[in-house]
Amino acid sequence: MDSARERLDHLWRRGREFLGTEYAIMGGAMSWISERHLVAAISNGGGFGVLACGSMPPHLLAEEIRATQALTQKPFGVNLITLHPQLDALIDVCGEMGVGHIVLAGGLPPSAAIRRAKATGAKVICFAPALVLAKKLLRSGVDALVIEGTEAGGHIGPVATSVLAQEILPVIEDVPVFVAGGIGRGEAVVAFLEMGASGCQLGTRFVCASECVAHPNFKASFIRAAARDAVPSVQVDPQFPVIPVRALGNNATKRFADFQIKVIARFRAGEIEQKEAQLQIEHFWAGALKRAVIDGDVENGSLMAGQSVGMVTREQPTAEILGELVTQSLVALMGRKGPISVCTGR
Ligand SMILES: Cc1cc2nc3c(=O)[nH]c(=O)nc-3n(C[C@H](O)[C@H](O)[C@H](O)COP(=O)(O)O)c2cc1C
Repeated sequence: MDSARERLDHLWRRGREFLGTEYAIMGGAMSWISERHLVAAISNGGGFGVLACGSMPPHLLAEEIRATQALTQKPFGVNLITLHPQLDALIDVCGEMGVGHIVLAGGLPPSAAIRRAKATGAKVICFAPALVLAKKLLRSGVDALVIEGTEAGGHIGPVATSVLAQEILPVIEDVPVFVAGGIGRGEAVVAFLEMGASGCQLGTRFVCASECVAHPNFKASFIRAAARDAVPSVQVDPQFPVIPVRALGNNATKRFADFQIKVIARFRAGEIEQKEAQLQIEHFWAGALKRAVIDGDVENGSLMAGQSVGMVTREQPTAEILGELVTQSLVALMGRKGPISVCTGR
Protein backbone atom coordinates (compact mmCIF):
# COMPACT_ATOMS: atom_id res chain seq x y z
CA MET A 1 0.00 0.00 0.00
CA ASP A 2 2.88 2.37 0.84
CA SER A 3 4.38 2.13 -2.63
CA ALA A 4 0.90 2.66 -4.16
CA ARG A 5 0.53 5.77 -1.99
CA GLU A 6 3.94 7.03 -3.15
CA ARG A 7 2.97 6.44 -6.77
CA LEU A 8 -0.31 8.27 -6.33
CA ASP A 9 1.46 11.17 -4.57
CA HIS A 10 3.86 11.33 -7.48
CA LEU A 11 1.19 11.04 -10.16
CA TRP A 12 -0.97 13.89 -8.89
CA ARG A 13 1.69 16.05 -7.18
CA ARG A 14 1.45 18.78 -9.79
CA GLY A 15 -2.32 18.95 -9.50
CA ARG A 16 -2.22 18.98 -5.70
CA GLU A 17 0.36 21.75 -5.66
CA PHE A 18 -1.64 23.78 -8.15
CA LEU A 19 -4.88 23.42 -6.17
CA GLY A 20 -3.30 23.45 -2.71
CA THR A 21 -5.15 20.27 -1.73
CA GLU A 22 -4.55 16.79 -0.36
CA TYR A 23 -6.14 15.15 -3.44
CA ALA A 24 -6.04 16.45 -7.02
CA ILE A 25 -9.79 15.91 -7.32
CA MET A 26 -11.93 18.88 -8.28
CA GLY A 27 -15.64 18.95 -7.56
CA GLY A 28 -16.86 20.45 -10.83
CA ALA A 29 -19.12 23.46 -10.33
CA MET A 30 -22.81 22.62 -10.80
CA SER A 31 -25.31 25.49 -10.93
CA TRP A 32 -27.69 25.48 -7.92
CA ILE A 33 -25.87 22.44 -6.51
CA SER A 34 -22.32 23.67 -5.90
CA GLU A 35 -23.16 26.20 -3.22
CA ARG A 36 -21.46 26.78 0.13
CA HIS A 37 -22.28 23.41 1.73
CA LEU A 38 -21.11 21.02 -0.98
CA VAL A 39 -18.12 23.20 -1.89
CA ALA A 40 -16.94 23.42 1.72
CA ALA A 41 -17.52 19.68 2.23
CA ILE A 42 -15.40 18.81 -0.81
CA SER A 43 -12.59 21.14 0.24
CA ASN A 44 -12.74 20.01 3.89
CA GLY A 45 -12.64 16.40 2.64
CA GLY A 46 -9.31 16.98 0.88
CA GLY A 47 -10.59 17.75 -2.62
CA PHE A 48 -11.11 21.08 -4.35
CA GLY A 49 -14.63 22.50 -4.23
CA VAL A 50 -15.73 24.96 -6.90
CA LEU A 51 -18.62 27.38 -6.30
CA ALA A 52 -21.02 27.72 -9.24
CA CYS A 53 -21.90 31.36 -9.81
CA GLY A 54 -24.42 30.52 -12.55
CA SER A 55 -26.65 33.57 -13.07
CA MET A 56 -26.04 35.09 -9.62
CA PRO A 57 -25.53 38.85 -9.52
CA PRO A 58 -22.25 40.11 -7.99
CA HIS A 59 -23.65 40.84 -4.50
CA LEU A 60 -25.04 37.28 -4.16
CA LEU A 61 -21.75 35.80 -5.35
CA ALA A 62 -19.93 37.85 -2.70
CA GLU A 63 -22.34 36.52 -0.06
CA GLU A 64 -21.85 32.91 -1.20
CA ILE A 65 -18.05 33.25 -1.21
CA ARG A 66 -18.14 34.75 2.29
CA ALA A 67 -20.40 31.94 3.54
CA THR A 68 -18.13 29.29 2.02
CA GLN A 69 -15.06 30.91 3.57
CA ALA A 70 -16.84 30.66 6.92
CA LEU A 71 -17.29 26.90 6.43
CA THR A 72 -13.78 26.02 5.26
CA GLN A 73 -10.25 27.25 5.69
CA LYS A 74 -9.20 25.11 2.71
CA PRO A 75 -8.79 26.37 -0.87
CA PHE A 76 -11.79 26.43 -3.19
CA GLY A 77 -12.49 27.99 -6.58
CA VAL A 78 -15.27 30.02 -8.20
CA ASN A 79 -16.78 29.11 -11.57
CA LEU A 80 -18.00 32.04 -13.68
CA ILE A 81 -19.98 31.68 -16.89
CA THR A 82 -18.34 33.87 -19.53
CA LEU A 83 -21.72 34.81 -21.07
CA HIS A 84 -22.85 36.42 -17.79
CA PRO A 85 -23.63 40.08 -18.57
CA GLN A 86 -21.76 41.22 -15.41
CA LEU A 87 -18.69 39.02 -15.90
CA ASP A 88 -16.22 41.84 -15.15
CA ALA A 89 -17.98 42.74 -11.91
CA LEU A 90 -18.03 39.05 -10.88
CA ILE A 91 -14.29 38.78 -11.53
CA ASP A 92 -13.77 41.89 -9.40
CA VAL A 93 -15.80 40.33 -6.58
CA CYS A 94 -13.54 37.26 -6.70
CA GLY A 95 -10.51 39.58 -6.51
CA GLU A 96 -11.91 41.56 -3.58
CA MET A 97 -12.72 38.37 -1.66
CA GLY A 98 -9.30 36.79 -2.24
CA VAL A 99 -10.50 33.85 -4.33
CA GLY A 100 -7.44 31.80 -5.25
CA HIS A 101 -8.75 30.06 -8.38
CA ILE A 102 -11.22 31.37 -10.97
CA VAL A 103 -12.72 28.92 -13.46
CA LEU A 104 -14.03 30.58 -16.63
CA ALA A 105 -16.65 28.32 -18.21
CA GLY A 106 -19.42 28.28 -20.80
CA GLY A 107 -17.63 29.04 -24.04
CA LEU A 108 -14.19 30.30 -24.93
CA PRO A 109 -13.44 33.21 -22.56
CA PRO A 110 -12.31 36.51 -24.12
CA SER A 111 -8.60 37.26 -23.53
CA ALA A 112 -9.61 40.44 -21.68
CA ALA A 113 -11.57 38.37 -19.13
CA ILE A 114 -8.57 36.06 -18.63
CA ARG A 115 -6.30 39.09 -18.13
CA ARG A 116 -8.74 40.67 -15.67
CA ALA A 117 -9.05 37.44 -13.70
CA LYS A 118 -5.27 37.00 -13.58
CA ALA A 119 -4.84 40.60 -12.47
CA THR A 120 -6.78 39.75 -9.28
CA GLY A 121 -3.91 37.41 -8.38
CA ALA A 122 -6.06 34.30 -8.87
CA LYS A 123 -5.00 31.28 -10.88
CA VAL A 124 -7.21 31.02 -13.95
CA ILE A 125 -8.60 27.71 -15.18
CA CYS A 126 -10.43 27.34 -18.51
CA PHE A 127 -12.12 24.52 -20.41
CA ALA A 128 -10.37 23.35 -23.58
CA PRO A 129 -12.75 21.46 -25.87
CA ALA A 130 -10.03 20.76 -28.51
CA LEU A 131 -6.24 20.83 -28.85
CA VAL A 132 -6.21 23.96 -31.02
CA LEU A 133 -8.27 25.82 -28.41
CA ALA A 134 -6.05 24.51 -25.60
CA LYS A 135 -3.05 26.08 -27.36
CA LYS A 136 -4.96 29.35 -27.88
CA LEU A 137 -5.88 29.46 -24.17
CA LEU A 138 -2.24 28.90 -23.23
CA ARG A 139 -1.27 31.89 -25.36
CA SER A 140 -3.91 33.91 -23.48
CA GLY A 141 -2.11 33.06 -20.24
CA VAL A 142 -4.36 30.52 -18.52
CA ASP A 143 -2.79 28.70 -15.58
CA ALA A 144 -4.53 25.34 -16.01
CA LEU A 145 -6.98 23.57 -18.30
CA VAL A 146 -9.93 21.25 -17.83
CA ILE A 147 -10.68 18.91 -20.70
CA GLU A 148 -14.24 17.65 -20.47
CA GLY A 149 -15.65 14.90 -22.64
CA THR A 150 -19.15 14.37 -23.90
CA GLU A 151 -19.92 11.83 -21.14
CA ALA A 152 -20.20 14.72 -18.66
CA GLY A 153 -23.39 16.11 -17.18
CA GLY A 154 -24.66 19.56 -18.17
CA HIS A 155 -23.44 21.43 -21.26
CA ILE A 156 -21.31 19.14 -23.39
CA GLY A 157 -19.06 19.04 -26.40
CA PRO A 158 -19.11 16.29 -29.03
CA VAL A 159 -15.84 14.45 -28.24
CA ALA A 160 -15.35 11.62 -25.72
CA THR A 161 -13.16 12.11 -22.66
CA SER A 162 -10.87 9.25 -23.73
CA VAL A 163 -10.23 10.87 -27.12
CA LEU A 164 -9.67 14.39 -25.73
CA ALA A 165 -7.24 12.91 -23.20
CA GLN A 166 -5.22 11.20 -25.93
CA GLU A 167 -5.20 14.32 -28.10
CA ILE A 168 -4.37 16.88 -25.45
CA LEU A 169 -2.47 15.27 -22.55
CA PRO A 170 0.66 14.25 -24.49
CA VAL A 171 0.94 17.70 -26.08
CA ILE A 172 0.11 20.25 -23.37
CA GLU A 173 2.94 20.29 -20.86
CA ASP A 174 3.15 23.95 -19.86
CA VAL A 175 0.18 23.94 -17.48
CA PRO A 176 -1.63 21.31 -15.39
CA VAL A 177 -4.50 19.61 -17.21
CA PHE A 178 -7.50 18.17 -15.33
CA VAL A 179 -9.72 15.57 -17.00
CA ALA A 180 -13.53 15.56 -16.60
CA GLY A 181 -16.52 13.71 -17.98
CA GLY A 182 -17.71 10.23 -17.10
CA ILE A 183 -15.35 9.66 -14.18
CA GLY A 184 -16.94 7.76 -11.32
CA ARG A 185 -14.19 5.62 -9.82
CA GLY A 186 -10.58 5.85 -8.72
CA GLU A 187 -9.35 3.42 -11.37
CA ALA A 188 -10.35 5.95 -14.02
CA VAL A 189 -8.65 8.75 -12.09
CA VAL A 190 -5.42 6.72 -12.06
CA ALA A 191 -5.72 5.93 -15.77
CA PHE A 192 -5.89 9.64 -16.66
CA LEU A 193 -3.09 10.52 -14.23
CA GLU A 194 -0.92 7.88 -15.88
CA MET A 195 -1.70 9.44 -19.26
CA GLY A 196 -0.30 12.73 -17.97
CA ALA A 197 -3.27 14.46 -16.33
CA SER A 198 -2.52 16.44 -13.17
CA GLY A 199 -5.89 15.58 -11.67
CA CYS A 200 -9.56 14.94 -12.42
CA GLN A 201 -12.83 16.84 -12.10
CA LEU A 202 -16.07 15.08 -11.14
CA GLY A 203 -19.57 16.54 -10.97
CA THR A 204 -22.27 13.86 -11.17
CA ARG A 205 -20.61 11.70 -8.51
CA PHE A 206 -21.03 14.48 -5.89
CA VAL A 207 -24.73 15.22 -6.47
CA CYS A 208 -25.87 12.63 -3.92
CA ALA A 209 -23.43 13.74 -1.26
CA SER A 210 -25.25 14.16 2.07
CA GLU A 211 -24.03 17.78 2.27
CA CYS A 212 -25.47 18.58 -1.18
CA VAL A 213 -28.62 20.74 -0.99
CA ALA A 214 -30.24 19.15 -4.06
CA HIS A 215 -33.88 18.14 -3.44
CA PRO A 216 -34.39 14.51 -2.32
CA ASN A 217 -36.39 13.90 -5.56
CA PHE A 218 -33.38 15.04 -7.61
CA LYS A 219 -31.06 12.74 -5.69
CA ALA A 220 -33.52 9.82 -5.98
CA SER A 221 -33.56 10.24 -9.78
CA PHE A 222 -29.76 9.96 -9.80
CA ILE A 223 -29.76 6.88 -7.58
CA ARG A 224 -32.34 5.16 -9.83
CA ALA A 225 -30.66 6.05 -13.14
CA ALA A 226 -28.34 3.95 -15.29
CA ALA A 227 -25.57 5.35 -17.52
CA ARG A 228 -27.77 5.08 -20.63
CA ASP A 229 -30.46 7.29 -19.07
CA ALA A 230 -28.18 10.36 -19.22
CA VAL A 231 -28.67 11.49 -22.81
CA PRO A 232 -27.90 14.62 -24.86
CA SER A 233 -30.71 17.04 -25.68
CA VAL A 234 -32.54 16.29 -28.93
CA GLN A 235 -32.42 18.72 -31.84
CA VAL A 236 -35.15 18.18 -34.43
CA ASP A 237 -33.96 20.57 -37.17
CA PRO A 238 -30.39 21.69 -37.98
CA GLN A 239 -31.76 25.12 -38.94
CA PHE A 240 -32.71 25.55 -35.26
CA PRO A 241 -29.67 24.55 -33.23
CA VAL A 242 -30.13 23.29 -29.69
CA ILE A 243 -27.41 23.72 -27.08
CA PRO A 244 -26.25 20.16 -26.30
CA VAL A 245 -26.93 19.30 -22.65
CA ARG A 246 -26.68 15.83 -21.11
CA ALA A 247 -29.55 15.08 -18.72
CA LEU A 248 -31.79 12.26 -17.55
CA GLY A 249 -34.83 11.80 -19.76
CA ASN A 250 -38.18 12.92 -18.24
CA ASN A 251 -41.47 14.56 -19.28
CA ALA A 252 -39.64 17.80 -20.04
CA THR A 253 -37.19 16.16 -22.47
CA LYS A 254 -40.14 14.52 -24.28
CA ARG A 255 -42.10 17.78 -24.41
CA PHE A 256 -39.00 19.59 -25.69
CA ALA A 257 -38.97 17.60 -28.93
CA ASP A 258 -42.73 18.22 -29.49
CA PHE A 259 -42.26 21.90 -28.60
CA GLN A 260 -39.51 22.32 -31.22
CA ILE A 261 -41.70 20.66 -33.88
CA LYS A 262 -44.64 23.00 -33.10
CA VAL A 263 -42.50 26.17 -33.04
CA ILE A 264 -40.75 25.26 -36.29
CA ALA A 265 -44.14 24.51 -37.90
CA ARG A 266 -45.30 28.03 -36.93
CA PHE A 267 -42.13 29.45 -38.52
CA ARG A 268 -42.70 27.42 -41.71
CA ALA A 269 -46.32 28.65 -41.81
CA GLY A 270 -44.99 32.25 -41.71
CA GLU A 271 -46.56 32.95 -38.32
CA ILE A 272 -43.26 33.85 -36.59
CA GLU A 273 -39.77 34.99 -37.65
CA GLN A 274 -36.83 32.55 -37.48
CA LYS A 275 -35.22 34.60 -34.70
CA GLU A 276 -38.39 34.46 -32.63
CA ALA A 277 -38.67 30.68 -33.17
CA GLN A 278 -35.05 30.20 -32.10
CA LEU A 279 -35.61 32.32 -28.98
CA GLN A 280 -38.69 30.33 -28.02
CA ILE A 281 -36.72 27.08 -28.35
CA GLU A 282 -33.88 28.46 -26.22
CA HIS A 283 -36.33 29.77 -23.65
CA PHE A 284 -37.90 26.33 -23.11
CA TRP A 285 -35.28 25.37 -20.50
CA ALA A 286 -35.14 28.72 -18.66
CA GLY A 287 -35.21 28.05 -14.93
CA ALA A 288 -35.48 24.30 -15.51
CA LEU A 289 -32.39 23.22 -13.53
CA LYS A 290 -33.52 25.18 -10.47
CA ARG A 291 -37.01 23.66 -10.82
CA ALA A 292 -35.54 20.17 -10.53
CA VAL A 293 -32.65 20.77 -8.09
CA ILE A 294 -34.36 23.14 -5.65
CA ASP A 295 -38.12 22.60 -6.11
CA GLY A 296 -37.79 18.85 -6.69
CA ASP A 297 -39.95 18.91 -9.83
CA VAL A 298 -38.11 16.08 -11.58
CA GLU A 299 -40.71 15.70 -14.34
CA ASN A 300 -40.80 19.31 -15.59
CA GLY A 301 -37.30 20.43 -14.61
CA SER A 302 -33.89 19.62 -16.07
CA LEU A 303 -32.11 16.59 -14.60
CA MET A 304 -28.60 17.42 -15.86
CA ALA A 305 -26.45 14.35 -15.24
CA GLY A 306 -23.43 12.64 -16.71
CA GLN A 307 -23.11 9.01 -17.76
CA SER A 308 -21.30 8.26 -14.49
CA VAL A 309 -24.76 8.56 -12.87
CA GLY A 310 -24.95 4.76 -13.02
CA MET A 311 -22.16 4.69 -10.43
CA VAL A 312 -24.18 6.84 -8.02
CA THR A 313 -25.94 4.24 -5.89
CA ARG A 314 -26.76 5.96 -2.59
CA GLU A 315 -26.54 9.14 -0.62
CA GLN A 316 -23.26 9.28 1.29
CA PRO A 317 -21.04 11.87 2.98
CA THR A 318 -18.69 13.80 0.70
CA ALA A 319 -15.65 12.63 2.67
CA GLU A 320 -16.74 9.02 2.06
CA ILE A 321 -17.05 9.63 -1.71
CA LEU A 322 -13.56 11.14 -1.78
CA GLY A 323 -12.24 8.32 0.42
CA GLU A 324 -13.67 5.70 -1.99
CA LEU A 325 -12.07 7.42 -4.97
CA VAL A 326 -8.68 7.48 -3.25
CA THR A 327 -8.93 3.86 -2.05
CA GLN A 328 -9.90 2.69 -5.55
CA SER A 329 -6.94 4.66 -6.95
CA LEU A 330 -4.56 3.04 -4.47
CA VAL A 331 -5.90 -0.46 -5.12
CA ALA A 332 -5.49 0.12 -8.86
CA LEU A 333 -1.90 1.19 -8.31
CA MET A 334 -1.05 -1.75 -6.04
CA GLY A 335 -0.99 -4.05 -9.06
CA ARG A 336 1.35 -1.80 -11.08
CA LYS A 337 4.98 -2.79 -11.55
CA GLY A 338 7.99 -1.09 -13.10
CA PRO A 339 9.01 2.54 -13.33
CA ILE A 340 6.54 5.36 -13.01
CA SER A 341 5.07 6.35 -16.38
CA VAL A 342 7.26 8.69 -18.44
CA CYS A 343 4.28 11.03 -18.88
CA THR A 344 4.18 11.92 -15.21
CA GLY A 345 7.43 13.76 -14.63
CA ARG A 346 5.90 17.21 -14.94
C1 LIG B 1 -26.30 19.35 -12.70
C2 LIG B 1 -25.02 19.87 -13.31
C3 LIG B 1 -24.81 21.24 -13.41
C4 LIG B 1 -23.61 21.73 -13.95
N1 LIG B 1 -23.40 23.10 -13.98
C5 LIG B 1 -22.20 23.57 -14.43
C6 LIG B 1 -21.91 24.96 -14.36
O1 LIG B 1 -22.70 25.78 -13.88
N2 LIG B 1 -20.69 25.39 -14.82
C7 LIG B 1 -19.76 24.50 -15.33
O2 LIG B 1 -18.68 24.91 -15.75
N3 LIG B 1 -20.03 23.16 -15.40
C8 LIG B 1 -21.19 22.69 -14.93
N4 LIG B 1 -21.43 21.34 -14.93
C9 LIG B 1 -20.31 20.41 -15.31
C10 LIG B 1 -19.50 20.01 -14.04
O3 LIG B 1 -18.81 21.10 -13.50
C11 LIG B 1 -18.45 18.93 -14.35
O4 LIG B 1 -17.45 19.42 -15.21
C12 LIG B 1 -19.08 17.68 -14.95
O5 LIG B 1 -20.19 17.30 -14.17
C13 LIG B 1 -18.04 16.56 -15.02
O6 LIG B 1 -18.55 15.43 -15.62
P1 LIG B 1 -19.34 14.28 -14.81
O7 LIG B 1 -20.71 14.82 -14.59
O8 LIG B 1 -19.31 13.14 -15.76
O9 LIG B 1 -18.60 14.03 -13.54
C14 LIG B 1 -22.63 20.83 -14.42
C15 LIG B 1 -22.86 19.45 -14.33
C16 LIG B 1 -24.03 18.95 -13.77
C17 LIG B 1 -24.23 17.46 -13.66
